[in-house]
Amino acid sequence: MTEKTFFVTGCAGFIGSHVAERLLSQGHNVYGIDNLDPFYPRKVKEDNLNILYNYSRFHFEKYSLEDIRSCTWYNSNTTFDCIIHLAARAGVRPSIERPSDYIKSNILGTQEVINFAEKKQCENLLFASSSSIYGNLSTLPFSEDMEASKPISPYAYTKRTNELQLYEAHHRMGLNVCCLRFFTVFGPRQRPDLAICKFIDLIKRGQSISLYGDGSTKRDYTFVEDIVDGVLSATKFLMNGSGIYEIINLGGGKPIALSNMADLIYEKLDKAPKIEYRPMQEGDVNFTHADITKAFKLLQYQPKVSFSAGLDRYIEWLNENGQRADF
Ligand SMILES: NC(=O)c1ccc[n+]([C@@H]2O[C@H](COP(=O)([O-])OP(=O)(O)OC[C@H]3O[C@@H](n4cnc5c(N)ncnc54)[C@H](O)[C@@H]3O)[C@@H](O)[C@H]2O)c1
Repeated sequence: MTEKTFFVTGCAGFIGSHVAERLLSQGHNVYGIDNLDPFYPRKVKEDNLNILYNYSRFHFEKYSLEDIRSCTWYNSNTTFDCIIHLAARAGVRPSIERPSDYIKSNILGTQEVINFAEKKQCENLLFASSSSIYGNLSTLPFSEDMEASKPISPYAYTKRTNELQLYEAHHRMGLNVCCLRFFTVFGPRQRPDLAICKFIDLIKRGQSISLYGDGSTKRDYTFVEDIVDGVLSATKFLMNGSGIYEIINLGGGKPIALSNMADLIYEKLDKAPKIEYRPMQEGDVNFTHADITKAFKLLQYQPKVSFSAGLDRYIEWLNENGQRADF
């Protein structure tokens, strides 16, 4: 891909920092915003930004999506080949406690990103949607043409609403849009609130872990590098086409039961299991499993890193970086 200029929202976060780093390492220009929200420690996001500051083609402004009109680039001559919209309040469980915060950041915030695209006359927008929009559908694997109208958390309905907001923008402005539904992403720099991070930390410290449900719930885990591959393919797909509105699953394609995930971590850390079983938590879906046929067809997406290999790489990174879940 010849040199392009990308606008990346949420660039200080887990996935955003990986996407931005890959783009920068390929010689592209990245303009990023993030409000460094306190959902998890700011230090983690500052560390992510410090990696990106090593590249002279990286430009950052600390803004909320809701205030995007105040950022320097809103009125400047800088133009963007593609907007990669990854900023959001993430996390299912906290969204049940504070739905209004999620509506503000995710729904109002995304409308401001659409307005930004219009103002900047940017033709391409890629959006991070989520497997959670499928809710508790009983037919597996989840494919993009299945019903997605029974969300079981505010987080899920904000993401589904965003897909609809972007359809309206596609219809009205001719914006090329790709909504990528990510399935549980893991790997280095992972959000500390996610189960794998918490489990590794507790197990290393000899403490017991809590499994919600009987351990049979399954998640389709996706290694972050595979997600970045999918995101970059999707940007090429958008920039080489016109009249595009697509929703595409990006998953690992091989769901793992919660109990197997915990067993594997105990095995890799060479510790004896100490598990407390607790009731399922509100908002948690039972299973996720991505049908990735469409991703392969449109983006030549094929996940390369198995759950076990990805876990090894994540544990190695944690050992080198000392990130803890409870700080
Ligand atoms: N990690 C996963 O498993 C997963 C799965 C499905 C979808 N997603 C989606 O992918 C995207 C990235 O997720 P992540 O895991 O990297 O999360 P993250 O929390 O690490 O990154 C999101 C970033 O957005 C920023 N942000 C939040 N609200 C903002 C706002 N109003 N204005 C500006 N910045 C704001 C945060 O400070 C954070 O740095 C999110 O949209 C998330 O919903 C993630």
